Amino acid sequence: MIRPMRPVIVAGNWKMHTTPADAGELARTIAARTRVDGVVRVLCPPYVCLAAVRDAVADTDVAVGAQDVHHEATGAFTGAISAPMLAGLATWTIVGHSERRRDACETDELIGRKVVAARGAGLRTILCVGEQLADREAGRARAVVDRQLWGCLTAVDPAALNGDDPLGFSIAYEPIWAIGTGRNARGADAAEMVAAIRTTLAAIGLADGGDGVPVLYGGSVASSNINEFMAEPSIDGALVGGASLKPDEMAAIVARAGLTAAARAAAAT
Ligand code: PGA
Repeated sequence: MIRPMRPVIVAGNWKMHTTPADAGELARTIAARTRVDGVVRVLCPPYVCLAAVRDAVADTDVAVGAQDVHHEATGAFTGAISAPMLAGLATWTIVGHSERRRDACETDELIGRKVVAARGAGLRTILCVGEQLADREAGRARAVVDRQLWGCLTAVDPAALNGDDPLGFSIAYEPIWAIGTGRNARGADAAEMVAAIRTTLAAIGLADGGDGVPVLYGGSVASSNINEFMAEPSIDGALVGGASLKPDEMAAIVARAGLTAAARAAAAT
């Protein structure tokens, strides 16, 4: 059987940047400058900017994503946004970002419930995992990521994750020490972890042994280092933070991702 090639994805996580007044213009500029065949583009602005970004990219194939969802659909959860509320605003969401694990004390178990809520509402879901510097230095990086994956996904029906939609469920491997620090992982180290992630996904019981699940790298991705990651066959794109607010950077990152997408398409024919 010929295995369908995995998609190449570049997702921008705008974090707590932009306002409804300026997000549309930034999204429009990025959309226009990143038109590259074969690369799935996703922009994840703050909730209050989702409508502006949705309208700005309406005539393009850029998708809009949220940065988080609540694990319940409705209820007395002051300040929270649920997955069903995003209907018409976003088709993707990030969950389990390390900044939410840190600032909102999100546990693996809770993040697993968010995955279920997001997939249940039909949102394409990017689950973030990654180790602290101390874990890497102590040789525990793989064990930590393994524990996160099992903790998040054990209670999730694997069929609900990547079912029929090749983009339904992805992982972003984001070593915490690389996020926002300008100190990216080495491509080879990231690729080694991505291979380990797929081994774990297979053990958890994902269809196709997890082989179809896109795994992205995140952590100080920039035009200057994207090549290192996109040159690794196991890495399917990037979750970009700081650089995703800069159209020049995004143009270069998506252009490099496009080379990988084209090479995969050529290899598949
Ligand atoms: P960074 O953030 O690219 O600014 O390091 C990545 C992320 O947190 O998703």
